[in-house]
Amino acid sequence: MNIFCFFIILFLFINNVLSYGYVGHQITASIAQKFLLPKVREHVRELLPKSANGNLYPIAAWADRVKYQPKYRFTSRMHYVSTPRDNPPDNCLIKYRPGRVDILNAIHNYTNRLDPKSNLDFWPRAEALRFLVHFLGDLHQPLHLTGKRRGGTGASAIFEGHKTSLHYIWDSRLIDKHIRELGYNFTFSDEENFIANNFHDGPFFEPYVKHIVNLMKTIWKQEVTEWAVCNEEMEYIFEKETQELFKSDLMLFEKNNKQTHFGVNLRQKKETYSLKKKQTSVSCPEYWAVPLNRLNCQVVWNDYVPDTELSEGEYYERIKRTRIIEKLLAITGIRIAAVLNSLLG
Ligand SMILES: *[C@@H]1O[C@H](CO)[C@@H](O)[C@H](O)[C@H]1NC(C)=O
Ligand SMILES: *[C@@H]1O[C@H](CO)[C@@H](O)[C@H](O)[C@H]1NC(C)=O
Repeated sequence: MNIFCFFIILFLFINNVLSYGYVGHQITASIAQKFLLPKVREHVRELLPKSANGNLYPIAAWADRVKYQPKYRFTSRMHYVSTPRDNPPDNCLIKYRPGRVDILNAIHNYTNRLDPKSNLDFWPRAEALRFLVHFLGDLHQPLHLTGKRRGGTGASAIFEGHKTSLHYIWDSRLIDKHIRELGYNFTFSDEENFIANNFHDGPFFEPYVKHIVNLMKTIWKQEVTEWAVCNEEMEYIFEKETQELFKSDLMLFEKNNKQTHFGVNLRQKKETYSLKKKQTSVSCPEYWAVPLNRLNCQVVWNDYVPDTELSEGEYYERIKRTRIIEKLLAITGIRIAAVLNSLLG
């Protein structure tokens, strides 16, 4: 094999393992879309390519497609952050260090660049929208918040009989499996076809999006409004639910038709209350990242044994039981919408 071939193969390989899967990003963008204010929807439409027809999901994975182009190579370090002494599952630690090139700084940067007050030209703002939607997605994949074994890309594992990495499992394989378990006939070739043909038909993951939105209206309805608040004390969300799910499932479906208000106002009120330091933008990745990084200790690296099958047994059961995949996708969608609504509303 000549060296050129080697790089092509390496490129394809890296492209596959280093990113929150295309589908994950597209799902979070589709959820966000449903919560955009009408005015924001129009504003966003203007910044998107015509082929996207006003939808965010076609651009959600754009940042992964461009990060190896020379022009955008500098953005490849913006997809993750690693903090010294962070070492899951024993010690989970994340520190916001302003001025570095990492996902936390990138989210602030692109939030500010998208802001109409930035007075930037069309393309820098259109580009900022693409990056922002993407990096808010990566932020909610816990392995993008740890440097341990290169974010789990170097942590070998088996999933449904295939050799893979912990990172790829959390980027893609768990989502794929959940979509399949909904009864929808999802295959990888669907995903490839979808990307190749793009945007013209409705997204094939729509049933899963509907399922997630349903969970927001039922079992999570009390907390949805809290998700967009800048608050680092979010841990209860995952822990409380784990305990409750040990009880009867019925308890979680108590009747309550109260409308869930998802408001910019609540968000602003809470921000002044919970932010201890000066806000750098309407996004608050440094707050959101704290409990997300901790998930590496609680779930992602907990009971991880190299080269074992992770699509069954206690490891997988915990993921199913806590609905952590759906919840992370839901929280991401709400936060993308909240940030866009605050900026463009
Ligand atoms: C912010 O984004 C612009 C455009 O991509 C980039 O040139 C700049 O380096 C970024 N700044 C930081 C601090 O990341
Ligand atoms: C999925 O595909 C199988 C085999 O092609 C078929 O029997 C089944 O009915 C399909 N399920 C759904 C929900 O379409």
